[in-house]
Amino acid sequence: MEGTREGPQASYARPEVYLREMRLGDLDQVLQIETRSFPTPWSRKAFVSELTRNRYAYYIIAQMDDRVVGYGGMWVIGDEAHITNIAVDPECRRRGIGKRLLQELLDRARDFGARSVTLEVRRSNVAAQRLYEGQGFEARGVRKGYYTDTGDDAIVMVKTLGGDDQRQGIGRWPFTLWE
Ligand SMILES: CC(C)(COP(=O)(O)OP(=O)(O)OC[C@H]1O[C@@H](n2cnc3c(N)ncnc32)[C@H](O)[C@@H]1OP(=O)(O)O)[C@@H](O)C(=O)NCCC(=O)NCCS
Repeated sequence: MEGTREGPQASYARPEVYLREMRLGDLDQVLQIETRSFPTPWSRKAFVSELTRNRYAYYIIAQMDDRVVGYGGMWVIGDEAHITNIAVDPECRRRGIGKRLLQELLDRARDFGARSVTLEVRRSNVAAQRLYEGQGFEARGVRKGYYTDTGDDAIVMVKTLGGDDQRQGIGRWPFTLWE
């Protein structure tokens, strides 16, 4: 059966996903994911400001064909990075895209000189907490009622960045999704 569609060498179409820096032209698609992902989505103005005025900001997207399927961003100030946003199209979740976006942000934070990375996540957002724990983040504190839209607490998570040996995303642009 080798080499046939039924055999172990069968080749199925596996979509390729590219990671690249976010551009203003991505914002229509980014905002569609944003509004489907968060109770209080960021506005277009907020993204435009991040991309054009915030010199500490760095944003990337994951792209499959011409479609934006996820994005993430952070601020890097001195030796500290802060993840501000990460989201994946609801139709494309649980395929490793969030993990690749996060790994890329961590690698770039290291490149920019960060030695630690922080973020806040809703206590109710178990999926995101699992994602961050899987990449070495640890819960370090709680901000009670931090999210005013739902009253949810924020869990503050921190990761200390190691040396180059801990890079994870290297060589993974693009990567192939396994369906
Ligand atoms: C959190 C989010 C970005 C994860 O993206 P994703 O592409 O689905 O994540 P991945 O497929 O890369 O999953 C990586 C790991 O995260 C964890 N994870 C992801 N979704 C999960 C879920 N629904 N339940 C439990 N764990 C989950 C798992 O540990 C997973 O590893 P595994 O697949 O080997 O078990 C996505 O669910 C999302 O966009 N959520 C809405 C926006 C959001 O909450 N952003 C975070 C704000 S702090």
